[in-house]
Amino acid sequence: MGLRSDLRTIRHMAFPRVAGETPAERMESYYRAAAGDYDAFRERLLHGRRELMGLLPSVPGGHLVEMGAGTGSNIAHLDERHRKEFRAITLVDVSASMLDVARRRVERSGWDNVETVLASATDYRPRDGRADVVVFSYALTMMPDWFAAVDHARALLRPGGTIAVCDFYVSRKHPARGARHAAWRRHLWPAWFSHNDVFLSPDHLPYLRARFTAARVRESLSPVPYLPARVPYYLFIGTRD
Ligand SMILES: C[S@@+](CC[C@H](N)C(=O)[O-])C[C@H]1O[C@@H](n2cnc3c(N)ncnc32)[C@H](O)[C@@H]1O
Repeated sequence: MGLRSDLRTIRHMAFPRVAGETPAERMESYYRAAAGDYDAFRERLLHGRRELMGLLPSVPGGHLVEMGAGTGSNIAHLDERHRKEFRAITLVDVSASMLDVARRRVERSGWDNVETVLASATDYRPRDGRADVVVFSYALTMMPDWFAAVDHARALLRPGGTIAVCDFYVSRKHPARGARHAAWRRHLWPAWFSHNDVFLSPDHLPYLRARFTAARVRESLSPVPYLPARVPYYLFIGTRD
């Protein structure tokens, strides 16, 4: 916690160790040494997560799946009554180190309807085959095949089910709607984040709009700890027809 933890995180981000043949191996190698410090720094970097969880629909007896759930901190943003309404909440991630933090959080908190599953967002399948809500929170930007992950989520969702996404992004140069970011933003942030295998895309929002009926879209800018600049992020809530 505190300054020491921040310094470890900043060093890790400045000199990330990413190795491996597959996306899963690369993610685990990236997070192995950093999972313990993840929450403290990301609390100030990854904005909109609390709001996203507060916007999830109430589905008594339903199944909520968070893809790329990391340390499982988003579940703590669900209020207790809302969390308990779900029959099952599944936290899916390819990094065993991140899921280890999540598993300890689940045990500590006594969340008896929450499980962790080591799997990829492109091929995880619930036991009963269907999900009612799928969440991606700052996860699509770390998935090279993010469009396959979105398609897979759509296939898992029952008709009327909800997808909830928040992430960094940049706008297209000529967006059909929504925010239009200045050239420096569209060039700087993708280059900056790609150093840490985070790939900002101008295509997330248009693709989500094409695959789901948008119920709520919010585009905003968030501060970055220790930097005098703000990075664009979006919130998308959509339903499957
Ligand atoms: C920036 S973290 C976000 C964690 C969490 N959702 C949050 O909001 O704090 C991205 C997470 O996505 C996971 N991830 C990356 N690619 C994945 C994939 N193909 N399938 C499942 N998880 C993946 C990473 O291991 C990491 O835990």
